[in-house]
Amino acid sequence: MGEHIGIVGAGYVGLTSAACFSRLGHRVTCVDADVSKVDELGRGVVSIAEPGLAELVGQGLADRTLSFTTAQAELYGADLVFLCLPTPPAEDGRPDLGVLEQVVPQLGRLLRPGCVVVTKSTVPVGTAARLPRLLGRDDLPVVANPEFLREGHAVEDFLHPDRVVVGTDPADSPAARRVARLYEPTGAPVVATDSASAELAKYASNAFLAVKLSYVNVLAELCERFGADVREVSRTMGLDARIGPEFLAPGPGWGGSCLPKDTSALLHAAESAGVDFGILRDAVRVNARQRARVVRAVRQAVTGSPAGSLAGARLGLLGLAFKAGTGDLRDSPALAVADDLARAGAELTAHDPAVACVPGTSSVQVVDDPYLVAKDAAAIVVLTEWPEFRDLDWARLAASADRAVVVDTRNLLDPDVLAEAGFAHLGVGTHPRR
Ligand code: UGA
Repeated sequence: MGEHIGIVGAGYVGLTSAACFSRLGHRVTCVDADVSKVDELGRGVVSIAEPGLAELVGQGLADRTLSFTTAQAELYGADLVFLCLPTPPAEDGRPDLGVLEQVVPQLGRLLRPGCVVVTKSTVPVGTAARLPRLLGRDDLPVVANPEFLREGHAVEDFLHPDRVVVGTDPADSPAARRVARLYEPTGAPVVATDSASAELAKYASNAFLAVKLSYVNVLAELCERFGADVREVSRTMGLDARIGPEFLAPGPGWGGSCLPKDTSALLHAAESAGVDFGILRDAVRVNARQRARVVRAVRQAVTGSPAGSLAGARLGLLGLAFKAGTGDLRDSPALAVADDLARAGAELTAHDPAVACVPGTSSVQVVDDPYLVAKDAAAIVVLTEWPEFRDLDWARLAASADRAVVVDTRNLLDPDVLAEAGFAHLGVGTHPRR
């Protein structure tokens, strides 16, 4: 048997970590304050839609290597305890550490001497260094071990990570090596460093991805002006090993629960430190104007002018989630565009394979049947890159649309297939089909 691992917080990061550590041969106790969530998880009911997660939870419960409880006291005896607590953005964009600051002193009163305390969910730089004081103990080694899990790929990313970071002060301590050993079966390279570098590496990675995406979104705009094709430009750039092919596809902007939150937190941290992180501020600014660009493209497609009126125009939207493979609407650029289109007077019907309704809005009618979005539509707007949209019967969609035009903000569809079906296809950063 491996280590006895405690996980505090059964959210997205905590539950994935708990299930995966039990899969890697450890005994895991996962604590959460939410009674009904703990009750459901104990019965194997997983509400987070992550491929493979429910199976791992079921297996861990059956093997008795995984248990869920509301009783923090059950963490007494754990060899390592992972903090997987939420740090949502406060109103000013800084991370709210309220939950962490409440729970950590409680843990300090109950953990056994020598227990390693690990920060897993994203926390501001300097948090690990603050923990001994928050714990009220100096006999509990602290390790910063940030996660790099993508939504929709969390289990895969946990079990096959690109890298594992363990930050302690001083670096490469026995506690850091103990945490790194947990990931040994994954074969991933380990970066053993100081805690501030480990914490900053997480923010730096997400912020870099955000900069890369805003860069390509501006590039797409430039391609339109120069008559170039952003797909060809990105492909050429991506073949350079120093640049890499990922995160070079333009879209309606980057969103989700991580990139916007982490870029904002890093910007605030830089500002507090008196460092001008202009390039990151610009990436955020570019992202904020991306939705207006999409709305202009839709106005152009429907009225022939980028300033034309959308009042009363029926529009069909394909995709609402912030990316394919998830039903997550948090900070979704697709929803932001939908809001703007509704404010401009358009009537919206939307389909997303993973979204049944949009809570708190009546401006978008969500339908189960993708073919209903085309009914009498003045345009169809593709906002999320679900591959199944490619396989729709586009001739059937054309038959029920008022005007057969598609604004494809993800360059997802094949213009030849659409032309065959009678659709005009307007991609992003590409030449309109002549
Ligand atoms: C992101 C990071 O990719 C993970 O490594 C990190 O662990 C995670 O945040 C986190 O901090 O927990 P995720 O939020 O799941 O993961 O989303 P991404 O897959 O990174 O996508 C972010 C946004 O970029 C989406 O809106 C997506 O549509 C957009 N995107 C991505 C593009 O517009 N073009 C691309 O080529 C790639």
